Amino acid sequence: MTEFADRVEQVSISGIRKVFEAAGEDAINLGIGQPDFPTPAHARRAAIEAIEAGDTDAYTSNKGTMGVREAISAKYDRDYGLEVDPEDVVATAGGSEALHLVLEAHVDPGEEVIFPDPGFVSYDALTRIASGTPKPIPLREDLTMDPAAVEEAITDDTAVFVVNSPANPTGAVQSEDDMREFARIADEHDVLCLSDEVYEHIVFEGTHRSPLEFAETDNVVVVSACSKTYSMTGWRLGWVTGSNRRIERMLRVHQYAQACASAPAQYAAEAALTGPHEPVEEMVEAFEERRDIVLDGLEDAGLEVPTPKGAFYAMPKVPEGWCAEVLDRGVVVVPGDAFGENGAGSARLSYATGTEELKRALEIIAEATRVTRE
Ligand SMILES: Cc1ncc(COP(=O)(O)O)c(C=O)c1O
Repeated sequence: MTEFADRVEQVSISGIRKVFEAAGEDAINLGIGQPDFPTPAHARRAAIEAIEAGDTDAYTSNKGTMGVREAISAKYDRDYGLEVDPEDVVATAGGSEALHLVLEAHVDPGEEVIFPDPGFVSYDALTRIASGTPKPIPLREDLTMDPAAVEEAITDDTAVFVVNSPANPTGAVQSEDDMREFARIADEHDVLCLSDEVYEHIVFEGTHRSPLEFAETDNVVVVSACSKTYSMTGWRLGWVTGSNRRIERMLRVHQYAQACASAPAQYAAEAALTGPHEPVEEMVEAFEERRDIVLDGLEDAGLEVPTPKGAFYAMPKVPEGWCAEVLDRGVVVVPGDAFGENGAGSARLSYATGTEELKRALEIIAEATRVTRE
């Protein structure tokens, strides 16, 4: 009898989904990991025009259209002064597929992948799907990942360490010094640094820096996407960039699993990347205002919460039974342990929700906090 593969049996559907299923229809949802803004009109229009012109009927090149790869390359020059050859980019089905390509191409069975705990749910699952061994590491008090902790966790069996800034589920942003350290560690230990930068533009203080800027070897690969920056989660368009020898390996996985990213999405992404950035700036301003509302509300409720400096999440410490109490009262939040063992005792709140709803949710949270503390 054909049994299911061990690597798949080790993975279950994300705990986030379970919370959504438990929520009532009228619940205020602070569990969602996507912006509540429309995709910019010029991006939608570019896809429609490409479809109507018949440009999206056929496969594109495996790596993606030259147009979208040139737009991605120009973005790295504009944002970081980095020279990225369009040949060293693969357009993928969202950042998710890009993460999968990196791990499939670099992790041998049993090799270790170090990642933040609490951290984005895919790191653990995709490591297992690549037959690797997950090695979650705890975070600092401010919820950033300490380069020293990464360095300590590296063994002869380590294939990859994951850096995610701004981070899901914490909203934490790594400093430039940390990013320099991550690059040094990748260089000195000859271990691949996978930098997940899907929230790179959603930063409230300073700017995002990438380990790719500081590495002296080709031991950094970067994953990013249109999903969060341009509110394009449904379009499924992300990418991975790295040295040519790494891209050629990742392309082997992409070619057979995916052939190419969806053509209409590639046209939309090209327009988003090359078009006006005001929609992004307006969205980030709105997130910052909401971040402040959420911080005030949580602190008034007596909860301890490190100040998130990016993305659209906050991760307060919460008393036992808090998440169930909040959910019972009609506000969806995600228990921190859905993001790893060290997330226990915290909850993730997403503020990709309108201000009025946020304020109502915070009133309910204050009440639920009082009750759980009694
Ligand atoms: C940290 C992080 N990386 C990657 C992804 C995947 O993004 P995409 O929707 O582009 O697949 C997400 C989505 O929530 C995320 O939070």
